[in-house]
Amino acid sequence: MEAFLSLEHMLRHAWNMIFQGTVKRNSPLREVVLSTIDEHGVPQNRMVILRKVEVADRRLIFFTDYRSGKINDIQSSQHISLLFWDSKKRVQIRCVGLLCMYKGDSLSKMYWDRIPKQGRGLYATIAPPGTPMPEDGVYMPPDWEERSLPETDMIAYPNFCVLICEVSKLDVLHLGREQHQRGGFHWNGNSWSMKWLIP
Ligand SMILES: Cc1cc2nc3c(=O)[nH]c(=O)nc-3n(C[C@H](O)[C@H](O)[C@H](O)COP(=O)(O)O)c2cc1C
Repeated sequence: MEAFLSLEHMLRHAWNMIFQGTVKRNSPLREVVLSTIDEHGVPQNRMVILRKVEVADRRLIFFTDYRSGKINDIQSSQHISLLFWDSKKRVQIRCVGLLCMYKGDSLSKMYWDRIPKQGRGLYATIAPPGTPMPEDGVYMPPDWEERSLPETDMIAYPNFCVLICEVSKLDVLHLGREQHQRGGFHWNGNSWSMKWLIP
């Protein structure tokens, strides 16, 4: 990838890369590391899939199981960071923002209605993710296979949660062949303030 000619160019490119993560199935930015701080102050990382991006509002949208450990973390601190890496373009993007949860409301229902049965299975396990496997190894409801799509609502939808991160900071690093470039971007309430950083 060519060097960035300006900070505006770098910022535009970074947002476009993030956006492409939701439209190109093979984009490396489809999978992102979400970092939270748990109740003991310990950082916790995990991969999540980027589901949607609203660039104008700086919003990144994810899905999760409301019973998962990260929900506890977010309830004690909404401050999160995200890490993207495109190894072909050699661009790292770090985002900082506040994460909000949407569960059992019209927004979560809108996304839920678009999820096919296979995807809904993630939210239907009989016990929360991360809890011990039952001795018989069965962790899906016994009648899961027979249930029609609308019949999955009752058992899986209560566990479905939409996470929306409003990004307030970006740190973009490009490991170029000729030179490395790094930009720091901070949303000041109306616009992005930006500066070149030592890589
Ligand atoms: C490639 C990949 C994509 C994943 N996507 C999601 C996702 O979109 N949402 C999610 O909650 N977990 C996703 N996971 C599972 C999480 O990484 C994690 O194991 C799970 O959410 C439990 O994390 P927690 O205990 O920190 O809450 C994904 C894992 C991988 C490897």
